[in-house]
Amino acid sequence: MPGDDAYAEAFDSVAYGLKRPARFEAYRGFWFMCLDEAVTPLTDYLGRAKDYIDLVIDQSPSGQMEIIAGVQEYDVAANWKLMVENSVDDYHLPSTHSTWLNFMANSGVKIEPPKEEGLVLPTRGKAVELGNGHFTTDNVNFRGRPVAKWIPLYGDAAKPEMDEIRRELVTRLGEERARRVADTNRNLVIFPNLVINDGSSVTVRTFYPEGAGKMHVTAWALGPVEESESARARRLDAFLTFYGPGGFATPDDVEALELVQQGLANWSEDRWSEMSRGMGKEGEQLNSDEHHLRIFWRRWNELMGART
Ligand SMILES: [Fe+2]
Repeated sequence: MPGDDAYAEAFDSVAYGLKRPARFEAYRGFWFMCLDEAVTPLTDYLGRAKDYIDLVIDQSPSGQMEIIAGVQEYDVAANWKLMVENSVDDYHLPSTHSTWLNFMANSGVKIEPPKEEGLVLPTRGKAVELGNGHFTTDNVNFRGRPVAKWIPLYGDAAKPEMDEIRRELVTRLGEERARRVADTNRNLVIFPNLVINDGSSVTVRTFYPEGAGKMHVTAWALGPVEESESARARRLDAFLTFYGPGGFATPDDVEALELVQQGLANWSEDRWSEMSRGMGKEGEQLNSDEHHLRIFWRRWNELMGART
């Protein structure tokens, strides 16, 4: 503080320091900070979302996943809440990302989830409510995973190492849990704006509003600390190929979000987003339904103090 003698003696500079967080707590290496004194302990706040964080962390033999140096950053001219919807709305995949699906198919990847009965795997993609506004998709994997699901796109040379990664997983976790970790993928939303895309790579993504119609997105790749150079290269390649700002998916998503924002700004016409898929249906909600999107909006509405 230059020139602090300009203040009167009673001026207490300590009172103007940064506020201490009311809570600064970790769950399996994910640190969360909160300024709200009234907030519940982290472990209670995360609730059942912890089970899905466990599926991520269990990919590392030592239980340590690290943020890989380097970051993806981009702006989207849309409201931040549209990114929450986009991160977990699975029925836009065939239409919005047909370029990527064609690329995968042309690379020899079978772009349908394997249908295997009697295993720990869900036979259809699901959406799961996790409490406190958190939710996730839960899908059988077809798009490959660095830990540890080989697809032709990785090339034959990658097979022995990926088999080894899978063997380690089975030895450590048992066959069933290993399949759960390696053969399923999910997009997890920790309410309100933390997304963990545990798919063809593990992406940790967050986004902040810079106005009603603009957000800034930051995304990091996550990987096991003990990962080899070749496995790390496959992971980073997948991180760029699908989710990268110049990848197969993100430019399409950004375009769609910005067009939705423009449409909603046309106040006199289509003012509402239709979000009724899966309503009135008994039983399980699919990843292609919109139950999980409604969970987000209801929780947001509740916190904003509006009448439901
Ligand atoms: Fe998308």
